[in-house]
Amino acid sequence: MQKVSRYLQEIVAKAAIASYPHIGTGGKDEGDQAAVDAMRSAFEGKEIDAIVRVGEGEKDEAPMLYVGEKLGTGNGPLLDIAVDPIEGTSLMAAGKPNAIATIAATDQGAFWDAGHAYYMDKIVVNGQAKGVIDINASTEQNLKAIAKAKGKSIEQIVVYVLNKPRHIELVKEIETLGATVALHDEGDVIGSILALVEESEIDVLMGIGGAPEAVVTAAAVKALGGGMQGKLAPQKDFEIKNLSDAGVDLDIVYQLDDLIKSEYAVFAAAGVTTGPLLKGVSKDGAKYSTEVIIIDSVDGLKKEMITI
Ligand code: FBP
Repeated sequence: MQKVSRYLQEIVAKAAIASYPHIGTGGKDEGDQAAVDAMRSAFEGKEIDAIVRVGEGEKDEAPMLYVGEKLGTGNGPLLDIAVDPIEGTSLMAAGKPNAIATIAATDQGAFWDAGHAYYMDKIVVNGQAKGVIDINASTEQNLKAIAKAKGKSIEQIVVYVLNKPRHIELVKEIETLGATVALHDEGDVIGSILALVEESEIDVLMGIGGAPEAVVTAAAVKALGGGMQGKLAPQKDFEIKNLSDAGVDLDIVYQLDDLIKSEYAVFAAAGVTTGPLLKGVSKDGAKYSTEVIIIDSVDGLKKEMITI
């Protein structure tokens, strides 16, 4: 395994394990903070010259892992880092499946700057369907094209959608077309990974999730040769105003290469709570274990149990 991937494997494992005391306790912020602290301290001494592009927010509101923070010893590969110390904080707090600790990395300057964007409409598919998605086309056109590219009927297609009021219409459309909706309360990063990997029944992720999450996701999509498109989807008036003040065009379609400009990409995630992709944290005496997935553009996909 490459050095950076090895580092990220250890860092996400430590973040997931740090959240363990808070799983199922309702302690959303406490669990998130424990993961942030563990992730930040695990970066110490790592031989990289990295900068946080997607982090916990601006420096004045986030003392650790803030956007622009430098990580590592300063000697080593120049990297952009995108973090989501707990993706699915409510899942973690409720002890429900699919919470993960995640990080992505690429060459410095290659990650898209999410800026003031909170939400993005996304389509994520694996390599078989990467050439056929079009976020400006209808759900019907996309699902038909994806089914054809995957050699399936539309009735065999499973679509991962976040269970949010904004997706009521999308869910109806998918069901009317005869495809299956896999509804999940949280977690569109994990939904995207499920759309990419062979072992999962998910064919495509569709719908509106976090814009920063799109950056983390894009690293996995790039490393596995999948397809992804996104379009900003502000949900509140202040978001529209902020984007318009910043001169952002809401009609732009972000292609995978806009979200991550380099061919070098690493994605790492550790299970916090057990889900279809990863086993969550377990404790045996003084030892903690978690399952980690590394998706690396050089070495491909690898899953391993890490015990600390
Ligand atoms: P966090 O737990 O990291 O905050 O995100 C969970 C999540 O479901 C993401 O996967 C998704 O992109 C985003 O929240 C959607 O936001 P919202 O819950 O506001 O619709």
